[in-house]
Amino acid sequence: MTTTIVTEDEERASLLRDSANYPSGKLSKVARTFTPSPIQELSLLAQRSNAINLAEGFPDFPAPPHIKNAAVSAINFDFNQYRHVQGICDLLSRKMKDKHGLNVDPSTDIAICCGQTEAFAAAVFSIIDRGDEVVLFDPCYETYEGCITMAGGVPVYVALDPPHWTLDPDRFMKAFTSRTKAVVLNSPHNPTGKVFTRDELEIIAGACCTWDCLAITDEVYEHIAFDDEKHISLASLPNMQEKTIITSSISKTFSVTGWRIGWAIAPALIASAIRNIHVKVTDSAPAPFQEAALTALSSPPEFYQSLKIEYESKRNYIVELLAEIGFQIEFKPKGSFFLFAKLPDQCALSDVEYVRELINQAGVVAVPGCGFFHTKVSYEKPSLEDRSYKGRYIRFAFCKSIETLTAAAEKLRRLYRTKWYLGLQ
Ligand SMILES: Cc1ncc(COP(=O)(O)O)c(C=O)c1O
Repeated sequence: MTTTIVTEDEERASLLRDSANYPSGKLSKVARTFTPSPIQELSLLAQRSNAINLAEGFPDFPAPPHIKNAAVSAINFDFNQYRHVQGICDLLSRKMKDKHGLNVDPSTDIAICCGQTEAFAAAVFSIIDRGDEVVLFDPCYETYEGCITMAGGVPVYVALDPPHWTLDPDRFMKAFTSRTKAVVLNSPHNPTGKVFTRDELEIIAGACCTWDCLAITDEVYEHIAFDDEKHISLASLPNMQEKTIITSSISKTFSVTGWRIGWAIAPALIASAIRNIHVKVTDSAPAPFQEAALTALSSPPEFYQSLKIEYESKRNYIVELLAEIGFQIEFKPKGSFFLFAKLPDQCALSDVEYVRELINQAGVVAVPGCGFFHTKVSYEKPSLEDRSYKGRYIRFAFCKSIETLTAAAEKLRRLYRTKWYLGLQ
């Protein structure tokens, strides 16, 4: 799942309009808390204007042929029924040993789910009770909060400090109480491209040990880290494997976000609870794509190397482009495939206004940063009294073909020459 900007169609627009006339009392309390955001409105606008999509976090180029062939063969072999492919767990267990030195029992410690999204939701439902507090970072990927509140949990946000999105240890430690049940960590990070350093991971691990709480990690960008940056799993730190639920998927590494294959890796008791919830909610992940995941997860080291090289060059391209057209690039992404760029100081528009104009005037769509920030952040830097920085960021996704990036660049450069973004028009 990702921030939806373009895929909403006209039918959905009319549904949203109609829902205004339907008695909301028919809906559950939880459903009523999920209301359309300004981002959804922009998504309809982008759809209508057929804008070039630098908003959504999924590739617009083909998936690797070796895994597509595996999926086609699986369908031709009639893998059409409910299925659990144990081979995925066996491969993941070996990978965890090789990459992170972790001993993971493939028969008890892994639950295959429908993407990281379901793995995360099942993980939350397996450990969170009403009133339990869950520590999260601000900004963060937008789906975590919904799952936590549906489970009755209370999100407690700790701000990462711009421009480098650093973790302040003192403020972070203050967020923990006897009610804290878990901390959520996403590294490499959406939307900023931050990769948490070992020192920061040690601070997070220290808090989990001091407060005896769990960590849920989201490692979907584990193979997309740039320069000399290395992804470190929090579970690999001393005493953390027994406290960590790792969630990840094949979505981003293999450019197949629609195949819906992911997993949770956790101590046996928790993994079993996650499996039970998964079975109740979806029964099993799509059978042919589980088969194809076996091929994906057996890809040679060269596959991962070229993935990194290609994304690194796209990252450099978009960083240079946005710097050239006046954005402030204070932090170059170290991982994931997003650039969280700051609007020029002279720009009079807010992030939402900017994206609206970007769609209307350039035919390009990106995501206003406000979608990733939270209004009720419990722990912020006292000196950052001016919280308006939260309305100054735009997230650009660079998981796009070079043709898409070049076409977007042309449009953005043309628009830049008009200086409209400074509010001078
Ligand atoms: C940080 C993060 N986690 C999870 C997901 C979704 O992963 P999946 O497709 O495996 O459900 C996304 C998709 O944008 C993401 O950015």
